Amino acid sequence: MKFDTPAGINPIDQLKVIGIPTDRIEGPLKTTGTARYAYEQYDVAPHQAYGYVVGAAIPRGRITAMDLAAAKAAPGVIDIVTWQNAGELGKGPRNTARLLGGPEVQHYHQAIALVVAETFEQARAAAQLVKVSYEAQPGTFDLDASRKTAKPASGGVTVGTFEPAYDSAPVKLDATYSTPDQSHSAMEPHASVAQWKDGRLTLWTSNQMIAWAAGDMARTLGLPRENVRIVSPYIGGGFGGKLFLRSDMLLAAVAARLTGRAVKVALQRPLIANNTTHRPATIQRIRLGATPEGKLTAIGHESWSGDLAGGKPETAVQQTQYLYAGAARATKMYLSVLDLPEGNAMRAPGEAPGLMALEIAMDEMAEKLGIDPVEFRVINDTQVDPSAPQRPFSKRDLVTCLRTGAEKFGWDKRNPRPGQSRQGGWLKGMGMGVAFRNNLLTASAARVRLDGQGMVTVETDMTDIGTGSYTIIAQTAAEMMGVPLNKVRVHLGDSDFPASAGSGGQWGANCSTSGVYAACVKLREAIAQKVGFNSGDAVFADGAVRSGNRAVPLAEAAGAQGLEAEDRIQFGDLGKTYQQSTFGAHFVEVRVDAATGETRIDRMLAVCAAGRILNPKSARSQVIGAMTMGVGGALMEELAVDAGRGFFVNHDLAGYEVPVHADIPHQEVIFLDETDPLSSPMKAKGVGELGLCGVSAAVANAIYNATGVRVRDYPLTLDKLI
Ligand code: MOS
Repeated sequence: MKFDTPAGINPIDQLKVIGIPTDRIEGPLKTTGTARYAYEQYDVAPHQAYGYVVGAAIPRGRITAMDLAAAKAAPGVIDIVTWQNAGELGKGPRNTARLLGGPEVQHYHQAIALVVAETFEQARAAAQLVKVSYEAQPGTFDLDASRKTAKPASGGVTVGTFEPAYDSAPVKLDATYSTPDQSHSAMEPHASVAQWKDGRLTLWTSNQMIAWAAGDMARTLGLPRENVRIVSPYIGGGFGGKLFLRSDMLLAAVAARLTGRAVKVALQRPLIANNTTHRPATIQRIRLGATPEGKLTAIGHESWSGDLAGGKPETAVQQTQYLYAGAARATKMYLSVLDLPEGNAMRAPGEAPGLMALEIAMDEMAEKLGIDPVEFRVINDTQVDPSAPQRPFSKRDLVTCLRTGAEKFGWDKRNPRPGQSRQGGWLKGMGMGVAFRNNLLTASAARVRLDGQGMVTVETDMTDIGTGSYTIIAQTAAEMMGVPLNKVRVHLGDSDFPASAGSGGQWGANCSTSGVYAACVKLREAIAQKVGFNSGDAVFADGAVRSGNRAVPLAEAAGAQGLEAEDRIQFGDLGKTYQQSTFGAHFVEVRVDAATGETRIDRMLAVCAAGRILNPKSARSQVIGAMTMGVGGALMEELAVDAGRGFFVNHDLAGYEVPVHADIPHQEVIFLDETDPLSSPMKAKGVGELGLCGVSAAVANAIYNATGVRVRDYPLTLDKLI
């Protein structure tokens, strides 16, 4: 449907259900263990066999021989999938490396075989008996060393002439920052159960983007799209790691086809870091020029990252196009071919690592200028896209985020001179950073049904990756149809349902509820027509539809047959007229042990301006989770590259450190009371990625304020402070 904001009252604005802090409607299923995650789909298909993935032991080269005899003879083994018996496999357009390698090996732990057996333990035991001989080829694994051969990548912007503006700036900063490779580390591993019936494949899996997965799987297997069904009702975390087809899905499908059995595969935890995607490391050089009064006159941001051949750069310069006013600017990206595993999107790709650098640079510049870091950002605010000044932001209230945050956090108590505040053996400090993330709008469809009991059922292939999609979709339908939440049922994550926006790029909440909104508008029209009301006057409230002094209960209006409607929405003009973005400010207080350099976070505050907040409870959970992730990015997260052997060394949750509860004592989130009618009929935006953007820099700036030690290389482990 082509959607125009309706004249008159938008039913969603009643805010009887939308905008109310609401517990997750599927929460009890999760806390009682009755929600079925992919690997727990025991009863969807009979006689499930178990697959165990064998990953390549070299980063680059060829398999010269594979001896499967001993593995095949092991107890319980049904078959072994390799490139030799897998059949013709295409490559999904969103995958850079092939999901089943061999004879060519493109990266370490690329899947090269799947051992299928009656039990998991038998498959695992037999996998140890697979003998593989390789001919290794040299590869490139060191980003910094590869910079000499990096190629310019498209995607930067030029405004005015940067070099002369920078050269003539009275106050200058030129600094280089680095961010490491990071792993999504979702709690639930990638997992799938595959079953074939009459040439049609069904995959119960854990995937963020159902329509992409179904289309890409069909292409990879050379099937008509309608012969693939993807089902993913519950997902134990994604963070971008489950945006695309992964090897568990493909290998389960191929093994099921080969063996005639249903096959389940969970990617073993130690394979995840090197077999799946990761956030690529970056090296970023930032040059800022400013007047003594603090007006930025020149902004230069260059970023280097690497990926396998055919891959893409980490778009770490993205926010630098939009964030600060006026100045001449040049942003550029360079891409190296690296033979490490495939790089790709991880929560707030681009802005998350980009702001890790830019927001330290802004802190450094504020200090050079002798201007408070909050004031420095306020001075350089803009209401238009600086690279296209005729294009205003649909809504931008960064200044209120900054001012509110400073006031609530007690920023005025910060000592601007670093290393001055002691408390026993601890050095205390405060830091802040700006949050920015684009608000992407993408098409989304849904189907809604009203039955003779007055129940409303919503079906869409939208996913809930732990974010609260079930709940905000139920709230949307309840608000639109004038029923309480317990009169709404929500079914998600099935490619048989209308294709939604899916969970990616923080567009899921706003776009998927907009699709539900559109379908509800149609259902309201159908109901009004059925009972003989003019749909313009029909009011949906208290489980009935009313017009004038006549009211018909919805159950009665639906009749025995029920009523159904489906619609799709693509809102806005894809950013042509307005720049769509979300904004925030992060404030952090830390203490650093003066003797050991150990950093502890004392408190954190985020203030976010992100349109209407559909469910303040689940939105808050998104933001505090993201803030926690930002602490991880600042202090501990790093896939350590073995630049000799070409792989990520710490490839499990013991070696890849993320914060635990004890690391995060106190977090607060404030949402500005805001609506953005240019974003969607819901007037909402995304918050899930915004919450991460700028956090790590705020922590780094707080550490500087505490210690006087400026670290430009993430993570800020204690060795870098001493
Ligand atoms: Mo997100 S990195 O698009 O899941």
